[in-house]
Amino acid sequence: MAQGELTFGWFLPSSGDATGLGSANDRIPSSRAVFDEIVDAVDNGGFKYMLIPVNTTCWEATVLASYYVAKTRNVMPLIALRAGYMNPTFAARMFATLDQISNGRLCINLIAGLNDADAVADGVFDDKIVRYEKMDEEVEIMKRLWQSNEPIGFEGKHYRVNQVIEPKPFQKPHPPFFLGGGSPQAAEISAKHSTVHLFWGDKPTVIAEKVKEMRALAAKYGRENVINFGMRLQVICRDTEEEAWEEAHRLIKGAGKFNFVNMRTGASALEDIKKTSDANRRVWQLLDESGNDMKIHPHLWAGISTVRVGAGIAIVGDPRQVAATIQEFVDAGCTTFCLSGYPHAEAARIFSQKVMPFFQGRMAESLPAVA
Ligand SMILES: Cc1cc2nc3c(=O)[nH]c(=O)nc-3n(C[C@H](O)[C@H](O)[C@H](O)COP(=O)(O)O)c2cc1C
Repeated sequence: MAQGELTFGWFLPSSGDATGLGSANDRIPSSRAVFDEIVDAVDNGGFKYMLIPVNTTCWEATVLASYYVAKTRNVMPLIALRAGYMNPTFAARMFATLDQISNGRLCINLIAGLNDADAVADGVFDDKIVRYEKMDEEVEIMKRLWQSNEPIGFEGKHYRVNQVIEPKPFQKPHPPFFLGGGSPQAAEISAKHSTVHLFWGDKPTVIAEKVKEMRALAAKYGRENVINFGMRLQVICRDTEEEAWEEAHRLIKGAGKFNFVNMRTGASALEDIKKTSDANRRVWQLLDESGNDMKIHPHLWAGISTVRVGAGIAIVGDPRQVAATIQEFVDAGCTTFCLSGYPHAEAARIFSQKVMPFFQGRMAESLPAVA
């Protein structure tokens, strides 16, 4: 019986997995078989939720989630929802349906999307400021639709909705919202709406400061004790520290620094993403400020950020060191950890067998309640 407040989640790489990041030959293309193995490791490995991302090359997140809630018993899909992409009444019905058929196993990760160019390529011409304004309205609309038996009469800057919908979600008052973003707008919307604010990797002292700032912001909405905090991190864990660092270096061997390109155009997306994503800018700042070893803390490594955008900070070490680094983030105020590693099924199994035991008796039965 779990008694604590900590939860662990894992990542479903729905645009494909990899055994390494240094060469195209290391890529494992997306397939049902690849995803099945990862989901099985996650569902049976003690993880409470599974983050399903969105971008142009990801298999569609809600469709994947519907398939996997039918095949699993434990894990909750955490579906990334890009602001401005979906009509909010349609989203409210779709998510309520999924929450019903899964007996309340849905959670939603609010994101603004990678950059403006990515949105424009999809035919969405809203800049980041507008995408965040829409996110705020979309969440408000969904929450109200899910709780009201009368037409909601919503009048916003971007949406006007006067509807009452069925089904209502299984979870009451509604499924939990996570939010991942690093800008002041992201912080404001998270303070107002989310159950969990997710950070990408940073130094534990910086996270402790951010948690304080976020709680102060949440206090404006009477939510300082309602909001929870989580880290989205990579994990490279081996039986010995030496093996873990060997694996870290093997993972990016052969990759040039910053050679990742826009999936569609082939052009380097780095400068554009740096301009428009605070969260990505911070990760690359950490990499720039690190030494030759790319360490930002004894067991936190920025090496993966040389080859990919987003969640590029990894915990590297033996099981005890990985657990101790997680504990530093717990001390900073985080209670949930959304993790990944390459290849994903194997890394999930290693984490659940070797690191989770350090947290025995401290893990929660479910995610924090929505309030
Ligand atoms: C924990 C976390 C998860 C994210 N997941 C996604 C994702 O699935 N797809 C995506 O396009 N962007 C994702 N993002 C990127 C955000 O959309 C990105 O931070 C965006 O640029 C928002 O801008 P901001 O950081 O300036 O607030 C994620 C960010 C964080 C922190």
